[in-house]
Amino acid sequence: MTQLQLAQAADPLLAVRDVSVVFGGIVALNGVSFDMHYGQILGLIGPNGAGKTTLFNCLSRLYQPSAGDILLEGRSILKRPPHRIAEIGIGRTFQNVALFPNLSVLDNVRVGTHARTASDIISDSLKLAWVRRSEAAVNAKVQEILAYLELESVAHKTVSGLPFGTQKRVELARALAADPKILLLDEPAGGLNHEEVYVLGDLIRRIRDQRDVTVLLVEHHMGLVMSIADHVVALNFGKKLAEGTPAQVQANPDVIKAYLGSKDQ
Ligand SMILES: Nc1ncnc2c1ncn2[C@@H]1O[C@H](COP(=O)(O)OP(=O)(O)OP(=O)(O)O)[C@@H](O)[C@H]1O
Ligand SMILES: [Mg+2]
Repeated sequence: MTQLQLAQAADPLLAVRDVSVVFGGIVALNGVSFDMHYGQILGLIGPNGAGKTTLFNCLSRLYQPSAGDILLEGRSILKRPPHRIAEIGIGRTFQNVALFPNLSVLDNVRVGTHARTASDIISDSLKLAWVRRSEAAVNAKVQEILAYLELESVAHKTVSGLPFGTQKRVELARALAADPKILLLDEPAGGLNHEEVYVLGDLIRRIRDQRDVTVLLVEHHMGLVMSIADHVVALNFGKKLAEGTPAQVQANPDVIKAYLGSKDQ
């Protein structure tokens, strides 16, 4: 058995159980269930309006499901507010980039580390020895991440002046700075050119392989999903349409029909 098959035989890292979301009269998600296993890159696909972003927002706790549960390592995350998901190991990026535009790259990445530093205002002001140590640890972490994502040359630049592709990398750096177990990526390929998408795919795979991160990838870019995902879940009209390997999902007649009936392809 491969490493991935072994991981799949064990308990899931994340379990989505019968999740439904209703907005007014609209059923955006209707009883969706699937598992994410350690070390997987899971691609979440579906035509426009399928419910991908709604599910993503449930995982990052911006939306509260109307029914169902989401379990991380067997424990429900649904009572946890969105600003407290980083500390249990869920990191995310945003579809439209949500950085502090007037701060430097370095400071934006530093913000990411705070989710995992046990420090507060009083101990910061007292400058206790362990806080100084943790400051040193934060600096080391930030430097390591900047080097890993090749952002050292722009570390002191203000984010707002950087190209969109670089800003997306900074956002990835910020998410990784909290050492997430799961990284939620919302259309990371959006706005990137062909070459940039290829580089991004390689980077996502390296992050999974080298940093022990499990990845949920919500993406319209079929080429990217099919080339890097181990497992694909397809949604349509709020329901799970199919799941399996990229090849299985691509060949699924219901998936083909759903895409032919949409303006996506
Ligand atoms: N905040 C909201 N209020 C009301 N309806 C919503 C809200 N968010 C999503 N919806 C509706 O829920 C359904 C699913 O939307 P969602 O944004 O999750 O789809 P998606 O798969 O992300 O689509 P896209 O590929 O276009 O991003 C759609 O019918 C959408 O109009
Ligand atoms: Mg969406």
